Amino acid sequence: MTETTDASAAQSSPHQPGHPRLTKAVIPVAGLGTRFLPATKAIPKEMLPVVDKPAIQYVVEEAVGAGLNDVLMVTGRNKGALEDHFDRQWELEQALEAKGDRNRLERVQAATVLADVHYIRQGDPKGLGHAVLCAAQHVGDQPFAVLLGDDLIDPRDPLLTTMLQVQAERGGSVIALLEVPRDQVNLYGCAAIEGDADADGAVVKVTDLVEKPAPEEAPSNLALIGRYVLHPAVFDVLRRTKPGRGNEIQVTDALHELAGMPADEGGGVWGVVFRGRRYDTGDRLSYLKAVVQLGEEHEEFGAEFARWLRSR
Ligand code: UTP
Repeated sequence: MTETTDASAAQSSPHQPGHPRLTKAVIPVAGLGTRFLPATKAIPKEMLPVVDKPAIQYVVEEAVGAGLNDVLMVTGRNKGALEDHFDRQWELEQALEAKGDRNRLERVQAATVLADVHYIRQGDPKGLGHAVLCAAQHVGDQPFAVLLGDDLIDPRDPLLTTMLQVQAERGGSVIALLEVPRDQVNLYGCAAIEGDADADGAVVKVTDLVEKPAPEEAPSNLALIGRYVLHPAVFDVLRRTKPGRGNEIQVTDALHELAGMPADEGGGVWGVVFRGRRYDTGDRLSYLKAVVQLGEEHEEFGAEFARWLRSR
């Protein structure tokens, strides 16, 4: 059973005629966030503010922007702050209303009306693959998107929309691929591909995947970033996937199996090459850079912040 926060949003979706409309997004937020301790001792890392919104709100906005307004968060300990953020805050809203502070009131209410948000608990954080498997009953037998809060994608770069289109046209599962320096592939899942990954938005066939390989063993320098559109066949694969790297059940290992399965069994993995604006919030240094980058772009005070940074 999942719990639900009541909200709604009518958005356009990249729906292809003849294909069922894909509406569900799964956002796993049950990780321990050890790289951010002690900041993440009492709150999930997805609730850390990036300029003036928690990271998770950017991610839900991205899902809704791509037409996915049914959002399932796979939570663990400390889920209270997440639920509160997407729920009404009557006292606060009334106080702002009484003050006539429409601007802040709208900002407070924005997260509440964004999407239909559901929650399910993972129990033991046994890995990203296990978190995705927790979504099986909610998702059913339709393809679905998975978005990780570690990666924020600039709304001007519609990566998820492209991935949904590729899934609708070609079937199977779709991953996002980012070229990284070879000595950093060991931080990511890594893909072997057929074809040319030169252009932004290029679609390539993925032939193999390996989680956090040593640079000398990596099949390429194409790293998986935190956006997936998965065929529901992934659930059966995850049920039989043994713990891998870090003794965790890895989505990358399930994708490795899907890449070798026939299309009529839900197999096949496609990669969309991404060269757009991505803000990594997964560790402390990247997070600081993301806050500065997005701070400089803030419509209200970005220019002043940029001037101040330069003056230092
Ligand atoms: P990470 O690998 O970044 O792990 O998970 P983490 O525990 O959150 O962070 P560190 O490495 O300890 O600092 C990627 C995403 O998968 C979720 C996390 O919440 C994060 O969004 N996740 C991971 C789960 O939901 N459950 C898990 O068992 C593992």
